[in-house]
Amino acid sequence: MKSNAKRFVLADFSPAGSTRKIGIYLAQKLSQTSGLPWEHRPFTLPKQRQELLGFDEDSLVIFAMPVYAGRIPSLLLPYVSQMKGEGAKVFLLSVYGNRHYDDALREMESLCVHAGMTVVGGAALIARHVFSDTIAKGRPDDKDYAALDDHLEAILDSFKKGKHVSMPGKEDLTYYQPKGVSGESVSIISVKPATKSGCIHCLQCVRSCPIGAIDEEDPSQVPGKCMKCCACVLACPLKLKHFDDEGFLSHLGALEEKLKERREPEFFLF
Ligand SMILES: Cc1cc2nc3c(=O)[nH]c(=O)nc-3n(C[C@H](O)[C@H](O)[C@H](O)COP(=O)(O)O)c2cc1C
Ligand code: SF4
Ligand code: SF4
Repeated sequence: MKSNAKRFVLADFSPAGSTRKIGIYLAQKLSQTSGLPWEHRPFTLPKQRQELLGFDEDSLVIFAMPVYAGRIPSLLLPYVSQMKGEGAKVFLLSVYGNRHYDDALREMESLCVHAGMTVVGGAALIARHVFSDTIAKGRPDDKDYAALDDHLEAILDSFKKGKHVSMPGKEDLTYYQPKGVSGESVSIISVKPATKSGCIHCLQCVRSCPIGAIDEEDPSQVPGKCMKCCACVLACPLKLKHFDDEGFLSHLGALEEKLKERREPEFFLF
């Protein structure tokens, strides 16, 4: 490693946990292989975003985000656009649910360049699709981790070289348009989770929501904007939170029908 590189920093947004899981695996392995320590800088929860993201030139950053509609989650754009890189080198990790990452890596690249960082590489990894119990079930799995292991040296080498690597995706970033089972266009923007009766007011859903959308007084209500991240669905110990919107369920049916073929991790390195 270059002499001024002092640490790896994993900066991740991960409402349902898969991006964090893959990011931590990568940070730990890079740390073990290089002998440098690593730090965690999550920005999933509102309180973790009270401070802006900031890195210095001693940091080797792993910037990790999930793919939502072929890009990064749009509600995070105002926060991520303010990040400051101060000459740090960054490796991008895009995690998606076996459909495609489309323009997400390209968008992450442009945000990091705007923040003053050098993008030295990136990867697109697959995790279970949070909407579904079947799409990419069990992923990341041993084969995914083995792919990361196989690329550790090359990732370290890209950090060492410190050269900019362009990411795939369209310059004119576009959002993926969801379709239903009959190919009809579906809009899920205003969809929010419903809550079955029997709430014990444990507030697990409230605490898990990355945008503080759920009412603390009455957790069955979601007055704020919802990003459909499913964190509350996974957090509720009684499994009361669910999506029952017709368009959403039709889109889910279409995805489950289409996404049966396994996609593999991809790496973009110098
Ligand atoms: C609103 C939303 C949109 C998504 N759009 C895509 C997509 O365009 N392509 C894809 O392959 N997966 C998509 N996914 C699946 C997520 O990328 C995947 O489940 C990811 O693991 C979630 O990350 P997390 O577990 O760190 O929260 C979407 C998930 C959500 C919640
Ligand atoms: S209310 Fe929406 S944004 Fe909040 S945790 Fe639930 S699905 Fe995610
Ligand atoms: S997690 Fe479930 S039980 Fe707990 S407050 Fe939320 S809806 Fe109610």
